[in-house]
Amino acid sequence: MQFVSKTGQIDKLSTPCLILPVFSKGQQLDVTTRFDQAHNGQITTVLKQGDASGKVGNTLLLQMPAGNKTKRVLLVGLGEQGKTTESDFNNAVQASINAIKHLPIKTICSALLTVEVTDKDIDWKVRQLVLTSREALYQYTETLTTAAPDAHSLEKCQLLAPSGRATQAINEAANIASSIANGVDRAKELANLPGNICTPTYLADTAKTLGKQHTSLKVTVLDEAKMEKLGMGSLLSVSRGSREPAKLITIEHAGGPKSQKPIVIVGKGLTFDAGGISIKPSSGMDEMKYDMCGGASVFGVMQMCAELNLPINVIGVVPSSENLPDGDANKPGDIVTSMAGLTIEILNTDAEGRLILCDALTYSAKFKPDVVIDVATLTGACVVALGKHATGLMANNDELANELLGAGLKAGDKAWQLPLWDEYKPQLKSNFADLANIGGPAGGTITAACFLSRFTEDYKWAHLDIAGTAWKTGAEKGATGRPVHMLSQFILDRC
Ligand code: BES
Ligand code: MN
Ligand code: ZN
Repeated sequence: MQFVSKTGQIDKLSTPCLILPVFSKGQQLDVTTRFDQAHNGQITTVLKQGDASGKVGNTLLLQMPAGNKTKRVLLVGLGEQGKTTESDFNNAVQASINAIKHLPIKTICSALLTVEVTDKDIDWKVRQLVLTSREALYQYTETLTTAAPDAHSLEKCQLLAPSGRATQAINEAANIASSIANGVDRAKELANLPGNICTPTYLADTAKTLGKQHTSLKVTVLDEAKMEKLGMGSLLSVSRGSREPAKLITIEHAGGPKSQKPIVIVGKGLTFDAGGISIKPSSGMDEMKYDMCGGASVFGVMQMCAELNLPINVIGVVPSSENLPDGDANKPGDIVTSMAGLTIEILNTDAEGRLILCDALTYSAKFKPDVVIDVATLTGACVVALGKHATGLMANNDELANELLGAGLKAGDKAWQLPLWDEYKPQLKSNFADLANIGGPAGGTITAACFLSRFTEDYKWAHLDIAGTAWKTGAEKGATGRPVHMLSQFILDRC
């Protein structure tokens, strides 16, 4: 759906559906009152009758009399006037889209930007209106043969500009938000695909297509022979147990000056994680198709950078492989040599994410990065520690950590920092190699990051564990597109 600003008088709008805010208490907004007056007090009536409560997210669809330029009005509740919070606003947007997405209409006009949200400016409102609407409209269709149950015909949302507001600023904010939403959708779409379709080769081909679609993007794919030459023994040991060859995908967006050091984002692209010989229990194992969500978010972020032509250098790196049991798979006790030269004792073949990431992190140094951020569905322990609301963040640089935490807060895609103290590091000691790939049950998220930290000593680095935030389980099963919002904000803040 396209979002464009709109000016005009509320009582003279020609639209199939007008979305109008109402409050449960206090004075109604000017737009609402003026519309009410132009239509014989109809809104006052339904509010008095109690048909519309004005409570946050409550909606009521009114059909206007024949001949009216405004065909329908959707009243959407925002709670008490003057007390609208961020989540109230988002809930109202979500409810309004859900209430009309089944209607056979192409265009809507939303007056929600006229609502004041505590501590938030118009840019924030536009961003949220676009992102929350797109979230409510997203529907996975790729492998469905019947029409999607939630198919909609919406094409355009006009954003009624609050009086005195520059429509150009609204359009700019909407444009940025739309590209973030496209990035989120891209990440969701890739992540929701099953493991038999979304293989490392599929991801590599998708990257090449993306590279052809955007002139600012340069895509390179390393095959196993090339990785072998680079000495990526750790990454390749994981893919040895699979018939799908591993790929190392690089997507470069050169938007900034040549002299500018790039932001490098490394995303775990494990297209299916059965655990290998340390096999996982079968219940819920299908969800391990989501073990490439970190990689998917890199695709989303790179697409966003390209679409907006951002004046900054960003490089996405996606190591991609499967992790399956096989006669040739890693065995517990095996020792492999990483590209960095460190030997690793594989005590659990299910701790494979760090095995592919460590080589991708070593490889990333060649870009002379300003910072490196890796994104990975790395540990079940992170889901235990932080649940599904916060991404786990660990870093070897506090400034970078704070920058990411701030971007997450701003974008409503939050992270929480865990310590990366030296005290945890002895847990990775091995009698037979430079380090072991697991550190025991205590502090599993942190010891996983400690493992990665051995390969990131030469640059500023942050690690995002998205095991709890990248997808939803149960009836709502599906990818969330996180942390595309946070990373997009991080990059936009640096532009
Ligand atoms: N991909 C998993 C982590 C994961 C588990 C993400 C559950 C989301 C939900 C990762 O490869 C893994 O298996 N990690 C192991 C590490 C352990 C063997 C040290 C885990 O968390 O159990
Ligand atoms: Mn695993
Ligand atoms: Zn995994």
